[in-house]
Amino acid sequence: MSKENRLEKLKKLREASRLGGGEERIKQQHTRGKLTSRERIAQLLDEGTFEEVDAFVTHRATEFGLAERKFPGDAVVTGYGQINGRLVYIFSQDFTVFGGSLSEVVSEKICKIMDLAMKNGAPVIGINDSGGARIQEGVVSLAGYGNIFLRNTIASGVVPQISIIAGPCAGGAVYSPALTDFIFMVEGTGQMYITGPDVIKAVTGEDVTHEQLGGALAHATKSGVAHFSMESEAICLQAVRRLLAFLPQNNTEDPPSIEPTDDPNRREERLLDIVPEDPNLPYNMKEVISLIVDNSDFMEVHQGYAQNIIVGFARLDGRSVGIVAQQPTHLSGVIDIDSSLKAARFVRFCDAFNIPLVTFADVPGFMPGTQQEYGGIIKHGAKLIYAYSEATVPKVSVITRKAYGGAYDVMSSKHLRGDINYAWPTAEIAVMGPEGAVNIIFRDKIARSSNPEETRKKLIEDYRNTFANPYIAASRGYIDDVIDPRETRPKLIRALAMLQNKRDTDPPKKHGNIPL
Ligand code: HXC
Repeated sequence: MSKENRLEKLKKLREASRLGGGEERIKQQHTRGKLTSRERIAQLLDEGTFEEVDAFVTHRATEFGLAERKFPGDAVVTGYGQINGRLVYIFSQDFTVFGGSLSEVVSEKICKIMDLAMKNGAPVIGINDSGGARIQEGVVSLAGYGNIFLRNTIASGVVPQISIIAGPCAGGAVYSPALTDFIFMVEGTGQMYITGPDVIKAVTGEDVTHEQLGGALAHATKSGVAHFSMESEAICLQAVRRLLAFLPQNNTEDPPSIEPTDDPNRREERLLDIVPEDPNLPYNMKEVISLIVDNSDFMEVHQGYAQNIIVGFARLDGRSVGIVAQQPTHLSGVIDIDSSLKAARFVRFCDAFNIPLVTFADVPGFMPGTQQEYGGIIKHGAKLIYAYSEATVPKVSVITRKAYGGAYDVMSSKHLRGDINYAWPTAEIAVMGPEGAVNIIFRDKIARSSNPEETRKKLIEDYRNTFANPYIAASRGYIDDVIDPRETRPKLIRALAMLQNKRDTDPPKKHGNIPL
């Protein structure tokens, strides 16, 4: 064969691989409102940086007439490239080939990429759009999933893993994304569920649509499975790029810092009056965050789920931080099962990837009730304590208002190895709020009084003046300083700069036993 013919053959094969399941199926993919696997990669990566591997891999199955139906590359496109100039590994399932289903070789391609990511210490991004296990390949396909799950687990805490759900992702296939750090779902097309509507109807009689059951909004607001619900694929892919800019490449690196364009000494007058005089009135903690962080740039994670706690990424003087904060506008910022899970997972991610934690506490306590107790608030709340306790990254906190009861301890307190703990003058740090405390410790006195209501009011006022402030905690050194709210940004930046070379470790162990 001449040189020209050899090159012609290569070109033809590559073109065939690029076409996936063919023009007709690409058209169908577009009609479904979806991009193709390659279009997604092109939008996600820096232009011209994608290097494909395994474009000529074909499946080995022969049953059910498969020997005659081979597509170079099979049902996934894999390779590496750059995002914001930094290396990433990527796999993008190709729905135009056997519905993106996972064959033995699709699994091998994905595992190859994951192994490279681990050896070279860079994030893995998986774009999911698949009918699940390649039915014709049977147990071989199941083995393929198992091999991916194992790698997801081993890579956890070593390189960031991000999943995009841009089509179906059903049955056991959901567990690879579930093992990764962040799940982005595309509204209208991304769907995740263990069993689909038909099986549910047959087993329980329940009627539910695909979207109600496993759509982006369901998982972003009800189950918490999805961290981000995105209006379109284009918006989703840009959001993944934005997220990666906050993260290090792997667990041995510090997160990237960028040249700051916001004054580190910026005082913020509006913070002075943001906490209302009446302690029972809410205020928006997102405003507090936005006033403090660089350029008000805050990437919220889990925005629609457990909204009584806020978590997300921002920068202070150009350096990435993970923010955890109560939201007084939602259930008064109480800690419940969902908010404990949400915050604990976020704290552990930040700790695994060397991202300092900044906590804003305004917490009246834990949510009471049988629903919470039977649901296991004891074990789930313990997760948040565990996460903060084991975290060795720099931990700085600000108590803006309430820090009552066990919740005071939970929120990055000095007792859980908080490095620098600040309080605003509006802070109320005590075992419980004035009303509850007075009703318990002065029950008899109030009952015996000639004017119980007047006595109660007076005692509440006395308690508030004596205990509901930051100075008792500050006198013990539990609070390092009571600060002028307007100076919160410079104070945090200086504390984090001081902690930049912090070294702290947990004792050697196989692993801890977080209360799961
Ligand atoms: C082989 C598959 C396939 C699969 C889809 N296709 N799923 N081929 N194995 N799992 C093929 C279809 O036969 C069809 O090929 C093409 O992909 C497109 O599928 P359509 O059904 O035409 O598309 P659509 O109407 O959009 O429906 C998409 C779908 C549906 C909802 C995903 O295809 C579907 O329900 N598929 C089966 C899902 C499933 O039960 N998978 C197994 C789950 S269990 P042709 O050539 O006809 O166009 C599982 C276990 C994992 O995954 C365990 C891990 C531990």
